[in-house]
Order: sequence, then C-alpha cells, then structure tokens
Amino acid sequence: MDFVVLLFILLLRLGPQWTAAVEDMSWTYTGLVGQSQWSEHFPECGGSSQSPVDIVTTQTKYDPGLSPLTPLGYSQHGNRPFSLYNNGHTAVIELPDWMSLGGLPWLFSAVQMHLHWGSGGPNYGGSEHTINGQSAEAELHVVHYNSELYPNMSAAMTQKDGLAVLGILIVTGEETNPAFNNIINYLSRIRHANQKVFIPAFDVQSLLPKDLDRYYRYNGSLTTPPCFQSVIWTLFHERVQISKAQLLKMETILYSSEAEDADRMLLQDNYRATQPLNHRAVFASFTAESGKELSSGEVTAIVIGVMCGCVGLAVIVRFLLKTIRMKEPEKAKEKPQEMALNCTSQAETRDERPSPQSHTCDTPGQDTLEDNNRTGKSNVV
Ligand SMILES: *[C@@H]1O[C@H](CO)[C@@H](O)[C@H](O)[C@H]1NC(C)=O
Ligand SMILES: *[C@@H]1O[C@H](CO)[C@@H](O)[C@H](O)[C@H]1NC(C)=O
Repeated sequence: MDFVVLLFILLLRLGPQWTAAVEDMSWTYTGLVGQSQWSEHFPECGGSSQSPVDIVTTQTKYDPGLSPLTPLGYSQHGNRPFSLYNNGHTAVIELPDWMSLGGLPWLFSAVQMHLHWGSGGPNYGGSEHTINGQSAEAELHVVHYNSELYPNMSAAMTQKDGLAVLGILIVTGEETNPAFNNIINYLSRIRHANQKVFIPAFDVQSLLPKDLDRYYRYNGSLTTPPCFQSVIWTLFHERVQISKAQLLKMETILYSSEAEDADRMLLQDNYRATQPLNHRAVFASFTAESGKELSSGEVTAIVIGVMCGCVGLAVIVRFLLKTIRMKEPEKAKEKPQEMALNCTSQAETRDERPSPQSHTCDTPGQDTLEDNNRTGKSNVV
C-alpha cells in the first residue's frame, strides 16, 4: 500500500505527464482490464464512496438548503470553436474557462463534458446512474473544478470537494433534440480513438433539462479510472429526451480503437455499473410528492394490478358459486320449472293477458347447467 501511495505522490508531482501515463494504461469497460479489475490498477476505484450509484428515491433525504443550480456563461459560448475529442472511452468536449457553476458552496469552473451510452436494444442500459434500479438510455456529464480552492483541474481532481459534476439522464422519444445535434452531427469526424476536431461553439445550457431546481446530491467519484473520490454529484430529476435515431448514431459511430488498428472495436456500453452507497446519504432538493409524481409506467402498473385483482376476484366468486351449485344438482334441475311457473303466475296475476315481457323471464338454472357443461369441456382441453 505504502508503495502505491508513494508512487501516487510521485506521479502527482509529474503533473500532466502523469495524467497521460494513466491514460496510456489502457482500461476498458469489459475484458482484461474491465471494471472489476480497475481497482487493481487504480486503488481509488475500490474505495467506499464510488460513483455511479442507484438512487432509491424513498431513501433520499430532503434538504431544503439545496438551492437551485445556476449555470453561468453556459449560453455565452463566444466565437472560439469547441474541441471534440474521441479519447477511446467517450466523446469529450472541452469547455471554455468562463463557463462556471453557481449554487454550490464554492464557485466551480467548467472543464469538459462527455457522454455515456449503451449498445442499443430496448431496456438495455446506457446511463451510469440509475433511479430505483432503472437505467436511462444515456447520460451526459458536465465536469467542473473548484476554482475558488484550487488553481486547476489536475490539482482539484484529487481533493475532496475538488470537482462538481452535473449528471443528466437521457431518454429517447419521437422528437429530435436539436441541441444534441451540435455534438452528434460531428461524431463521424472523430470515429477513431485520439481523433480531435473543432466544432462550432453552441449554447451548452440547451443540453440541460429546463428544471434545474430539482436534483439529487451526493458525494462520489469519477466514474472512470482513476476514480478519484472528489466529486460533488448533482443528478437532475428531469430527464432530457433525444430521438431514437440520435441515440443510434451515438451508439454506433465511434470506435474505441485507433484508425491504424487492424481490429476495429465499436465504442459501446461505456458506462460503469452502480457502486454501493455504503455510509453515504443521497439528498434531494425537493420533496417526493408521491401523488403527483406517478409516472405513466406506474399508472399502467396500477391499472394492470387492479384489473388482475378484479379478474382474480371474479374467478374466485365464480368458482365458489359453481361449487355451491354442484352440491345441489337436483335443486338446480327443479328450479327452472319453479321459475317458469313463477313467471307465468306472476304475469297472470299482474295482467290477464301476459305481456311479451313475461317471455323474457329467464331460467337461470338452465344457463348454469350449460355453463357447467362448457367449463367441463374446456377443463379437459
Ligand atoms: C496545476 O496547479 C499546480 C499547483 O499550482 C501546478 O503545479 C501545475 O503545474 C498545474 N497544472 C497545470 C496543468 O496547469
Ligand atoms: C460531502 O462531504 C462533506 C465533507 O465531508 C460534507 O460536509 C457534505 O455534507 C457531504 N455532502 C453530501 C451531499 O453528502
């Protein structure tokens, strides 16, 4: 352990070169240096405050002190183009240093944003964070460092409260999200790892959900090696929507392999599994208004549940009735005649000439017998 710490400090002294060294040490999401092996090479990945996590909404704590987040300068992108880079793990957009984030105890300056996604298929994962065990199709991360306490990203990323990351869950729907085309339309120019292009600057705030007031907050880590536990996480309650075609492009255009590599490897499923919460708490900036918060899925579940309940009850009642009737087969045979007699006698007493309605007097006993025959047959089948 001591050796690892020493090496760590030594590497830290090297600064940027060290970051390069870490990136050279190629890790992947699956395979030999897949996520279950990350901690062997990057000790912090085995820590107790890792990200992402599954957010169990009933176990979150409402914190009225969590003020709305305020993106500063997100919409003032200026004239300088953004750089879009395939680092072999995701597509990264470097952000200008005047973009920052207010609403946290310190001012955080924007550094970069990137995406995580799956490999298609309905109900297949893609997001890193999950809510009540449910994945979204993709997730956008906007990374900031604490520029009040630290001089730069490399200095901040190893420190507690050094980073603030915004997590935005992405789901698919019918409509194209034009804001995301500012990225997706250029992915074809960085198909291979280590390719970089400049793209027109755009309004970064247009990628975020409209409701920035409702979010979950917890202390966690980078979701990729070296997994430093330095991140104040904000996961927005509102999801953003892109089209299925946009998601498909995101999932199928990029390679994790370099242009020269003989074996092309699609860059897919670049999301880490959720990590144990351990001692940590997840705070919510809003209260769960359970009545209003029912999603369409929950409503469907309730409707189906109630319907199943009714059908079940009907089956039981029918079974009970049948059992009772089966016990009195003789009486059932007698009843039709009694009923018929009753009908005619009633009709006769009410009116001398029996009205046509009197013919509608049913003989339920016969129906029951027929029913029994039918169900008897179907049981054999
Ligand atoms: C970050 O700040 C540290 C501490 O001031 C400094 O030593 C290092 O060179 C800086 N790194 C970069 C990439 O600017
Ligand atoms: C994160 O950790 C800091 C320092 O330990 C603590 O003050 C803060 O309340 C924690 N925040 C959350 C959201 O748990």
